[in-house]
Amino acid sequence: MAENGGGPVVLSTPAEMRAWRRAHPGELGFVPTMGYLHDGHLALVQRSKQENALTVVSIFVNPMQFGPGEDFERYPRDEARDLRLLAEAGVDAVYLPTPAVMYPPGYQTYVTVEEVTKRLEGAARPGHFRGVATVVLKLFNAVEPTRAYFGRKDAQQLRVIRRMVQDLDLGVEVVPCDIVREPDGLAMSSRNVYLSPEQRAAAPVVKRALDVAASRWAAGEREAEALRRAVAEVVAGEPLAALEYVSLADDVTLEELEGRVEGPALLSVVVRFGATRLLDNVELG
Ligand code: PAF
Repeated sequence: MAENGGGPVVLSTPAEMRAWRRAHPGELGFVPTMGYLHDGHLALVQRSKQENALTVVSIFVNPMQFGPGEDFERYPRDEARDLRLLAEAGVDAVYLPTPAVMYPPGYQTYVTVEEVTKRLEGAARPGHFRGVATVVLKLFNAVEPTRAYFGRKDAQQLRVIRRMVQDLDLGVEVVPCDIVREPDGLAMSSRNVYLSPEQRAAAPVVKRALDVAASRWAAGEREAEALRRAVAEVVAGEPLAALEYVSLADDVTLEELEGRVEGPALLSVVVRFGATRLLDNVELG
C-alpha cells in the first residue's frame, strides 16, 4: 500500500485491496480501466462518486485480453498522469496490480462467457472476451464493489459483463454509462492517440455514418440491411477509412438481425484507419 501525496491510496495486490475494502465498508463504486485516462473514464468516476460513498479505480493493462500481434506492448501508458487525474477527481483508492501479481506462474483459471462472445469483437479478436471476463471477475473479487461502471462504447463488453454477473451470481450492479465524445463526434478512446493527424481529421466519419442510419431509423426505416447499408455508404465516402464490419444485432443476445427489425437493436461498427480500429455504436429503439 502506498500513500500518494494526499491523493488516493494506491493498492498493488489483491490482499492489500481486500484489506482496504474490509477497513472501508459501505457502498463502493468501481471503475475498471486500462489507464491512459480520458474524459470518458472521468465521467464514469463522477457517476460513481455521485452514487456511492467510496470510489475505487483500477489501472491494469490486461495482457490476457490482447491477442498475438495486437497492441499490448505499445498500449499507451502514463501512470503519473493517471494518478494525478484520479487525485483531482477525488477517488478514494486506486488498485494498480502488475501482470505478475494477477497471473503468477502456474495460473490456469479462465472465465468463458459463451453465446454473447461469439460474434462481433469476439469473432474479430478470438480470446479477447475470455481475458476481459477473467480479469473483471478477479478485479471484482479483490475490490468487492457495490456497483461497477462501464462505458456503452464497448457495447459487447458491457453485455458480456452483465451476463457473467448474472450467471455467476456476483451481486454487483453493472451501471452502463453514455459514450463521451470529442466535440467533432469521435468517441473518446485511449487508442485515438494512435491516429495520425490526417486519420484523426477523418475519424468523425464513424459517428456521422451512425447518425445517418439513426435518422433513417427515426424516419421509420426498419429493414436491417438498409440500415447497415446506410452506415457502409457513408464510411465508403472517406478514403482513409476501411469498414471492418457493420452490425445490426439484437440488443441483448447480439444475434445479427435480418429483415424487418422490431425490437431494441444495437447498430455497431468497426472502422479501420490504417492499423487502428475504431469502435462505435448506437442503440436503436
Ligand atoms: O474496457 C476496458 O478498459 C477493459 O476491457 C477492462 C474492462 C478494464 C478490463 O481490462
